[in-house]
Amino acid sequence: MAGVPHPEPLSCASYSAVELSLDNDRVILLEQRELPTVERYLSLADCAEVVAAITDMVVRGAPAIGITAAYGMVVAAAKAPREPSDFSSHMTAAAAGLKASRPTAVNLAWAVDAMLQLALSDVCESAEDRVELLADRARRIHRDDVEACRRMGAYGAERVPDGARILTHCNAGALATGGYGTALGVIRAAHELGKAITVLADETRPYLQGARLTAWELHRDGIPVEVIADSASGALMRNGQIDLAVVGSDRVASNGDVANKIGTYNVAVLCRAHELPFYVAAPWSTVDMACVDGNHIPIEERAAEEISMSGERRMVASGIGVRNPAFDVTPASLVSALFTERGVASPLGPASLNQIAPQVAAKSRDSAMEAKRHV
Ligand code: MRU
Repeated sequence: MAGVPHPEPLSCASYSAVELSLDNDRVILLEQRELPTVERYLSLADCAEVVAAITDMVVRGAPAIGITAAYGMVVAAAKAPREPSDFSSHMTAAAAGLKASRPTAVNLAWAVDAMLQLALSDVCESAEDRVELLADRARRIHRDDVEACRRMGAYGAERVPDGARILTHCNAGALATGGYGTALGVIRAAHELGKAITVLADETRPYLQGARLTAWELHRDGIPVEVIADSASGALMRNGQIDLAVVGSDRVASNGDVANKIGTYNVAVLCRAHELPFYVAAPWSTVDMACVDGNHIPIEERAAEEISMSGERRMVASGIGVRNPAFDVTPASLVSALFTERGVASPLGPASLNQIAPQVAAKSRDSAMEAKRHV
């Protein structure tokens, strides 16, 4: 695969947000802060470097940071002391560091918890076997995510009319997932069905994921895309130039409230005002059934410089305060449907989520089979 410094990438694109090296000792990340002008990969051999890469947005997007953190746990195990109690404390500390790297996306905590549980389960004879076992599990999280994106994409594409002009916010594409994308998965699937769609990517201030990443991805796939200022979407809806919006999510609460990139709520309110469908696409690993509602979702506040500076240039006079919440919460009532790999929740709320949620009995049967497979 051209561009990806990895002989067997799990991503299905000609680039990959994240991979684990074949010998399980390095996490390979596409340096997303340099896109769209430079396509460069970093190779990280240390879990602390992986933590910093997530915090500093080398890699971003809820599923992609979950996969990165899972690979970070493999790298941590490869460098861990062999003595069992030292190994446990090393892995527990690595997990804590990774979980603290970004707070809003629940996929991150979910992936790290799954990896820590396996690391501490006493099923391996040697340290080498343990690293191998963890690498297999992390690659499965990655593969499952790509598969989930394809499935939700297929569900979502059914609701996209031929000729639709689609607004998307932030980047919920191959760069934000294991590959293919959630919101962009819906768009890709509709395009693959031959629907003549066009996409409006809003810039997504302040970090410009829409302008820098979404437009780059779609253009590369030959999907028609234009970039608009965030503030243009209302006027375009009013003029009848947008037919629907689709976005990803960082966490869906059990009542259906959706956390996503700051500005998503504005888009949802505008869609309601113009009677347009507002869709969310996310894997089940983004659904947090333990979180009662959107008020309980931790919202990351990022550095003031993301707003006050544009590169080297100051945009806000020094001494003036800046607020930079990185995510917002859209109430379930504004969401027309949630597409997941398990099916569609519509109208979005506790009842529709419970209907597609894995059943507890099936879950414990699955974990029993899982445990058997690893012994
Ligand atoms: O701050 P980011 O770039 O990590 O925010 C990403 C988003 O908000 C995405 O929309 C979300 O993670 C869904 S990605 C499939």
